[in-house]
Amino acid sequence: MTDWGLGEDTLPPDPMTLFALWFERAERESGLENPNAFLLSTVAADGAPDGRVLLLKGADESGFVFYTNKESTKGRALRHETRAAMTFYWDPLGRQVRVRGETTDVTDEEADAYFESRPLGSRIGAWASRQSQPLDSRNALEEAVRAAEERFAGETVPRPAHWGGYRLVPSSIEFWQAGPFRLHDRMRYDRVADGWRITRLYP
Ligand SMILES: Cc1cc2nc3c(=O)[nH]c(=O)nc-3n(C[C@H](O)[C@H](O)[C@H](O)COP(=O)(O)O)c2cc1C
Repeated sequence: MTDWGLGEDTLPPDPMTLFALWFERAERESGLENPNAFLLSTVAADGAPDGRVLLLKGADESGFVFYTNKESTKGRALRHETRAAMTFYWDPLGRQVRVRGETTDVTDEEADAYFESRPLGSRIGAWASRQSQPLDSRNALEEAVRAAEERFAGETVPRPAHWGGYRLVPSSIEFWQAGPFRLHDRMRYDRVADGWRITRLYP
């Protein structure tokens, strides 16, 4: 199946099939350093929206997976409002993908397995960083890294309880392909009882 063009006749019935094709092409051809980067948008307890870039670590029929510090600003927001949005933008391909849905925690086993696959420095960093909290100085961070290194010297670094993953289960996914004269193609998949409904949108 070709992965370009958003013609009604050629679209796969399941958006994850199309996402996989687009993502594969972004990895192969975009030339981007991090084609798996996306914007995660959340809503805090006070109703304020917020966004930040993260890296996608998995996408399949079960949803989109990312990892972070659960006590961070985004972690707190997701505790309050589990709905979130993810936006991918692959500029060299003229493509955007917008995903909305509900986040759930990945299992401890899944988070452990991913944590163990990370380089030692990243595992130490997960212990040293109180992500999104005020930090007195760069020195204080380096000190926290040294303390974590000493604490786990010669041992396997376990996954901290505050570090884990989320799986966003999509309720809608929109594919956007740049077109001439801003006459872009936009196709949105909305989850319905027996699968997905596809709607073309004005650009
Ligand atoms: C390219 C890129 C990739 C990033 N990947 C992650 C990531 O996978 N997980 C993460 O927690 N932060 C990642 N960050 C840092 C976040 O953008 C953000 O600064 C951090 O998670 C704190 O966000 P918060 O205060 O809203 O919780 C990344 C930043 C950039 C620019």
